Amino acid sequence: MQNIIITGGAGFIGSHVVRLFVNKYPQYKIINLDKLTYAGNLANLKDIENKPNYKFVRMDICYFDGVYKLMQDEKVDGIIHLAAESHVDRSIKDPFTFAQTNVMGTLSLLQAAKLYWENLPEKFDGKRFYHISTDEVYGALEMTHPEGIKPPFTTKASSGEHHLAYGEKFFTEDLKYQPHSPYSAAKASSDHFVRAFHDTYGLPTVVTNCSNNYGPYQFPEKLIPLFINNIRHRKPLPVYGKGENVRDWLYVEDHARAIDLIFHKGTIAETYNIGGFNEWKNIDIIKVVINTVDRLLGRKEGEDMNLITYVTDRAGHDMRYAIDSSKLQRELGWEPSLQFEEGIEKTVKWYLENQAWMDNITSGEYEKYYEEMYKNR
Ligand code: NAD
Ligand code: DAU
Repeated sequence: MQNIIITGGAGFIGSHVVRLFVNKYPQYKIINLDKLTYAGNLANLKDIENKPNYKFVRMDICYFDGVYKLMQDEKVDGIIHLAAESHVDRSIKDPFTFAQTNVMGTLSLLQAAKLYWENLPEKFDGKRFYHISTDEVYGALEMTHPEGIKPPFTTKASSGEHHLAYGEKFFTEDLKYQPHSPYSAAKASSDHFVRAFHDTYGLPTVVTNCSNNYGPYQFPEKLIPLFINNIRHRKPLPVYGKGENVRDWLYVEDHARAIDLIFHKGTIAETYNIGGFNEWKNIDIIKVVINTVDRLLGRKEGEDMNLITYVTDRAGHDMRYAIDSSKLQRELGWEPSLQFEEGIEKTVKWYLENQAWMDNITSGEYEKYYEEMYKNR
């Protein structure tokens, strides 16, 4: 029996992690702690919300007293921490919120876990604080091979038609942190606090840094869901700069499976990078998305290419991310389960079949629902 708090469980990745844990571990109690910011959406969890081993608590991770009491009341053994402000463009406009949630919120959880666990008879025995971070903390890699080279490894994610790397260097776990955006600076700072709590107090922590995720339930401010929805409505597709920036894409359920494995089998105080060796230039991925949406909507494949609109680049736009996940593959035997071409097909299909989910967000209806639900509490 384990009682586990998953923070940010109403968001994109968090909802997949909650679903996996609730379904796979009926003997665990899963407490989804989420503030329901604009990015939180309980519709992401409709299929599991009535399961007996699931509980939702609306709370801000920065509210130390509340978080500490919740850990005591629920006799929490494990924390999987995903709650964060996660969108780079928002961090450029409003860095304070990112420092508050990502840094102070993480510190609040760390301190609450430490205080609660160190006063138990067994102390930190059998306990775990798992912090979910991003590859962006490592900064940007150079694009030494814009034409693409053969990558050092292939995985299922990268074994399709497209399997190129755009440089020789990859993000490894021992790299120096060099964040560039306020978002990644705040995530980097939270990672440092997590490690400091292990080194100073012996808190049983583990940190993972993952590459770009894609899949169902992603908030439509991020590249893939935003563009799918815009293509559907034949709205312009704002491509930042020249569209040459490279991201390393992983299907969200493969990330959730890695989190499950690392939560149970990862070594305390270790860091694991998670990614599928699946690099894509933005413009190439955008073309795949356009072709897929057109085909699935019964339009002529590629007829919406004219929606591509080059716009001013993102400030400080990182050129290339590429994760080396060989440590995780070697030590814990994780591998992505989906070839990228399959994952994109599945993803586009999901958004097109779940237009009510999308429309509920773009119309703002989903937020009104919470206001109504929580107005008397
Ligand atoms: P998201 O923006 O979709 O969801 C974030 C969730 O956190 C939302 O449900 C929101 O309501 C909640 N939240 C925000 N502030 C909160 C607060 N103060 N208190 C409680 N809850 C709060 O994010 P995501 O894309 O699912 O990312 C989840 C985590 O994974 C983040 O920590 C992010 O840094 C990390 N990550 C994301 C990616 C990616 O590609 N999306 C890749 C690597 C790592
Ligand atoms: O690498 C992991 C990170 O991936 C996570 O830590 C972040 O939470 C997540 O948001 C994501 O960050 P990115 O900035 O890479 O994702 P985004 O979807 O915002 O953008 C992907 C790329 O597409 C990036 O190079 C910017 C570009 N882009 C994005 C948008 C929204 C565009 O060209 N146009 C757009 O409208």
